[in-house]
Amino acid sequence: MYPRAALKFALLAQLASLASATYSDPKVLDACPGYQAKNVFNYGHKLTADLVLGGTACNVFGNDTEKLKLEVTYENKDRIHVKITDPATNRYEVPEEVLSRPKADLSAGPQTSNILFNYTASPFSFSVYRAKTHEVLFSTASHPIIFEPQYLRVKTNLPANANIYGLGEHSDSFRLPTHNYTRTMWSRDAYGLPQGQNLYGNHPIYFEHRTTGTHGVFLLNSNGMDIKLDDTEGTGTTLEYNVIGGVLDFYFLAGSESDPTELVRQYADVVGTPAEVPYWSFGFHQCRFGYANYIDVSQVITNYAAAGIPLETMWTDIDYMDRRRVFTVDPQYFPLNRVREIVDYLHAHDQKYILMTDPAIAYAPGEGYGTFDRGTAADVWLKAANGSSPFLGAVWPGVTVFPDWFHPMAQTFWNNEFNLFYNPVSGIDIDGVWIDMNEPASFCNYPCTDPFAQARQQNLPPPRTSSPPDPNTPIFGEAPPSVRKRASAPDHSKDNVQSPPYAIANHAGSGALSDRTAYTDARHANGLIEYDTHNLYGHMMSTTTQGAMAARRPGLKTLVITRSTFAGSGAKVGKWLGDNLSTWSQYKSSIAGILGMAGIYQVPMVGADICGFGGNTNENMCARWAMLGAFYPFMRNHADLSAISQEFYRWPTTAQAARNALDTRYRLLDYLYTAFHQAKKDGSPVLRPLWYAFPKDTNTFAIDSQFFFGPSVLISPVIDADSTSVDVYYPHELFYDFHTLAPTTGGSSVHLTNVNFTSIPVSIMGGAVLPLRTQGQYTTTALRKTDFELVVAPSLADGRAHGSLYLDDGVSVVPLMHTSVSFAYEKGRLNVQGWYGYATGVNVSRVRFANTKSAPKSVTLNGKTVAANKVAFDSSTGVLDVTLGISFKSSFVVELH
Ligand code: NOJ
Repeated sequence: MYPRAALKFALLAQLASLASATYSDPKVLDACPGYQAKNVFNYGHKLTADLVLGGTACNVFGNDTEKLKLEVTYENKDRIHVKITDPATNRYEVPEEVLSRPKADLSAGPQTSNILFNYTASPFSFSVYRAKTHEVLFSTASHPIIFEPQYLRVKTNLPANANIYGLGEHSDSFRLPTHNYTRTMWSRDAYGLPQGQNLYGNHPIYFEHRTTGTHGVFLLNSNGMDIKLDDTEGTGTTLEYNVIGGVLDFYFLAGSESDPTELVRQYADVVGTPAEVPYWSFGFHQCRFGYANYIDVSQVITNYAAAGIPLETMWTDIDYMDRRRVFTVDPQYFPLNRVREIVDYLHAHDQKYILMTDPAIAYAPGEGYGTFDRGTAADVWLKAANGSSPFLGAVWPGVTVFPDWFHPMAQTFWNNEFNLFYNPVSGIDIDGVWIDMNEPASFCNYPCTDPFAQARQQNLPPPRTSSPPDPNTPIFGEAPPSVRKRASAPDHSKDNVQSPPYAIANHAGSGALSDRTAYTDARHANGLIEYDTHNLYGHMMSTTTQGAMAARRPGLKTLVITRSTFAGSGAKVGKWLGDNLSTWSQYKSSIAGILGMAGIYQVPMVGADICGFGGNTNENMCARWAMLGAFYPFMRNHADLSAISQEFYRWPTTAQAARNALDTRYRLLDYLYTAFHQAKKDGSPVLRPLWYAFPKDTNTFAIDSQFFFGPSVLISPVIDADSTSVDVYYPHELFYDFHTLAPTTGGSSVHLTNVNFTSIPVSIMGGAVLPLRTQGQYTTTALRKTDFELVVAPSLADGRAHGSLYLDDGVSVVPLMHTSVSFAYEKGRLNVQGWYGYATGVNVSRVRFANTKSAPKSVTLNGKTVAANKVAFDSSTGVLDVTLGISFKSSFVVELH
């Protein structure tokens, strides 16, 4: 161990020699004294102890806390909660109103747990290991815990080349690098999605996968942090948390030795299962920043119809606003009556409309801007450090204030604004909500000095570039205060919240925590400051907005799409991945992005901006992206103000690619809806990396250019620029081409060639029965009137297959009626059993049996022979088609004899 003076000297020398203050030498930190466990009480399901500083304080980034409290709780057989706090100080903890704590099973304890907690008293370290195999999953041995007012450090050893996933939001590979790699959690407006940097949202959960099993570690903490993965220290691979506030609040999840999706469900148990979204929201969405006026918008709607490319939902960005003020319309470019006409037209055609709602409200004292005046009267703005004047930033409308979502009146205020502006009688009847800039983003640090920012301060959004349309131009040819618990308000009087001693690797502007966002000393109504809650701003806006929309449409499922999220946001909202670029590399990396959200973080309603947001796309790229985007759960084309137009109909190849992929998507829409319903029930992942299904196949661990859409549809897009070939990997199973049902036996890589620009390789994994609509339609309303067909894709190992279908009215949170059917196929017998409460109103037109070796002598439906002319066997593909044409309202059995 270093003597104290030497330690300090070493530290100071290192800090002085480095330009970046983010540095901390692992050897110096490992030489800190750590703690000793005293007064250990073991109650079986719970263990408590005092942790007392074990030697001379090392005071690396502040003074070491002398005494800590350790509390370990076995919460259920798969979860151990480990919490380390400072009993003498009121430190920040993520409040229940943000994320409610999961309940513990009273029967839980080490006897029944799949993972166990172990500790060494002096120096204190702890480990978590598998009960059955004693395999260590997490161990702080030889890495003392450091606990200081503005610095917490916990470090675990990992196996060499550990397979680590999660720790989003990031734009890096799905399997994270383990060499000199830092994941920083600090929400920021991250145009261009640079790799290796902090982005919009924060999900401090990681999954570690081994061939022996998969487990997870969630740190419930919203303060800024760096999580470092490294293997350069000569002590093996490690993962180190460096957190600048709050408490150590870990949830260790056992996962499973054989099925990684168990771990996804266990995480859902902690942060909540995801919201179900309306059926229509799985239709295609079109958006852009820069639709000049209402005519532009209406033309896009009619152009899609003319091109025969299904358009479910039209969006409008901030362009519709009067001087970019939320809850207003520009009287010349987007007059209210015309926007209402657009909405009426859309609704009459079974289509939907969504508008942008930003959090930043124009600071407009005395100007009669209702939203500002009402918010001021209710005193709901985030406050500056003085605690009285509103905190000011500079966003789209110029100088702005920001709602304080922790304010007890915030929900009432937001509900009222929604009721006034988004009301069907006199306002705009939106069907879903888009919320943005909620990191929160500010273009400069007010009062700003650069000219761009100065213009903004003077309430000068850039002038419109076109003249307003002639107002006569026809289009289309013709709440009680919320009860919010007070969160504990920690005392930061002695802390440096602007520039804490440990500087996380924030990439916003200068790197200062307050750069381009609300300042860390900005104050919330409940005494909290942004330093602790910054990473929750987007989450709080999300839940408040979802609440406002739900209040306006009681009983109906909501669609809210946000940019910034925190652990648990998916329980209320979906998200898009923010400002990507129209590049082939970002086309590819979007897969890792959606896999993180829909495969780990429980935010399955996710998609990237199709064809790319910033920069210009082109015909081939937009065609490929239309087809990949057809397998994002949330499918939206969106472009930046300065980008060329990129609606799918702009290029013939892109248009055809979109038609083809949308047809496939829509045929799978009930399968997707079923996957969301399952996710809501138990947290099962909606998208999956290959290794979730093939956890022992090491070839799959790094793959993030292919993914499963739902449990059993494998998407293998062409990845390289302008290419028509792709190397794909089919694990050891049968994979059936979605269109021909021709099987490929997996177990190796395959080089696919001649994949033209209007097709995408989609395969059904063996072992699945899929309920498909017989063909796509222009809207989801029409789609729901289309018959089903069942596809039976037998597995390689035993020729069995199974699947399920969930259907309801598609809009109600608690539908009065539902239909829930399961499909099981074995040895020539397909059994369709279920509950048919919701009238599907359609038929099962046929069943397609793939990989049938020969024509059966006869086929029966519920024991009665099916007429020979209704049975067709294609010996070249092995597909047996049995036409049924029966009403889909009761169970049935089809047998091949
Ligand atoms: C930033 C968002 O990320 C982008 O999607 C949007 O178009 C602009 N803000 C303008 O609202």
